[in-house]
Amino acid sequence: MRTVLLLVLALIAVGALAFYLLTIPVTFSAADLPDHTPDVANGKMMFIAGGCAECHAVPVKTCDGLEIEDETQLAGSRCLKTDVGTFHVPNISPDPETGIGGWSTLDFVNAMKRGVAPGGVHLYPSFPYTSYQRMRFEDLIDLKAYLDTLPPVRSTVPANALHFPYNIRRGVGLFQRLYVDGKTFEPDPQASQSVNRGGYLVMGPGHCVQCHSPRNALGGIIASAAFAGAKSPSGKGDAPNIGSSSEGIGDWSQADIAYFLETGSTPDFDVVGDVMVPVQENMARLPAKDREAIAAFLKTLPPGRESAETP
Ligand code: HEC
Ligand code: HEC
Repeated sequence: MRTVLLLVLALIAVGALAFYLLTIPVTFSAADLPDHTPDVANGKMMFIAGGCAECHAVPVKTCDGLEIEDETQLAGSRCLKTDVGTFHVPNISPDPETGIGGWSTLDFVNAMKRGVAPGGVHLYPSFPYTSYQRMRFEDLIDLKAYLDTLPPVRSTVPANALHFPYNIRRGVGLFQRLYVDGKTFEPDPQASQSVNRGGYLVMGPGHCVQCHSPRNALGGIIASAAFAGAKSPSGKGDAPNIGSSSEGIGDWSQADIAYFLETGSTPDFDVVGDVMVPVQENMARLPAKDREAIAAFLKTLPPGRESAETP
């Protein structure tokens, strides 16, 4: 009996140690950051391409009952309802106490490229850092400089309400072992400059893959089915296949895609809806050559799996 008990205790200890070791936060150090003079205008473009306001800005009700957001007020508090529970989006305004005003550029880079907040706190991937990790250090330094120009806003954001075992923050370290490497998007030397720029915007700040791809049980994107379509995070309808499948936008020309990103109109005279609306509105604010680049990159994607429905 005693030996069994000792054995069980030993197994628990080994398990706990393994969990501890596997979930140690991985971060960059100051030496990894390039020497770069921040460009606030480019930082604002990254903010728009990244759709940060969609989650972090405060929704305001107008007197007509319309809900609009002031993209400069990043007080958070919006909630994201998911299968694992409800996330309350944090304050990322420069308020030193309730926002990220006290964060260094390195702290910010670690959140964006490693999913780790100061103090070694693992961040949940409901914050789409599995895409933002592909951003260039220089663009992140610019983005931080832009965020620093915004007004500090105080806010108290409730704690996330997640189901067990997802409420164990440290466990996110296991997910990060599989899906986070902090590697910047690598341009394809065979592809044109425009395709590579588009690839960067799609895979990095634009985080298009997050909604347009099916996920596995761990919440990771199934790489082989990237862009093949998935259920919309709104729960209403689908985020369609945006690869070259004839089921999706395979028969749209590059110009059709660029026009859609600019105006929200599809070649069959439909208009964009659902959670793609704010994404499209952000794309419309980018330089035209960036929209053309995104379209050029999407045209290089494989068809992907034929249907978003079949697992
Ligand atoms: C899909 C919604 C979503 C988008 C888009 C998004 N975030 Fe977040 N972000 C979150 C959530 C949710 C968290 C908190 C995750 C957690 O609880 O661990 C978060 C956390 C953060 C944090 C850590 C804050 C802290 O106090 O620990 C930073 C910094 C951040 N986001 C910056 C950004 C920036 C910059 C952008 C745009 C490039 C962005 N986020 C886009 C949802 C989002
Ligand atoms: C927040 C989730 C989300 C993100 C992020 C997102 N999309 Fe979408 N997208 C959708 C949804 C949902 C639809 C379907 C919209 C509708 O019902 O009209 C859609 C539709 C589209 C369409 C039209 C497809 C068709 O067959 O009509 C294109 C093209 C597209 N997205 C491209 C992109 C690109 C490029 C990005 C990255 C810059 C992106 N999306 C990011 C959710 C998303």
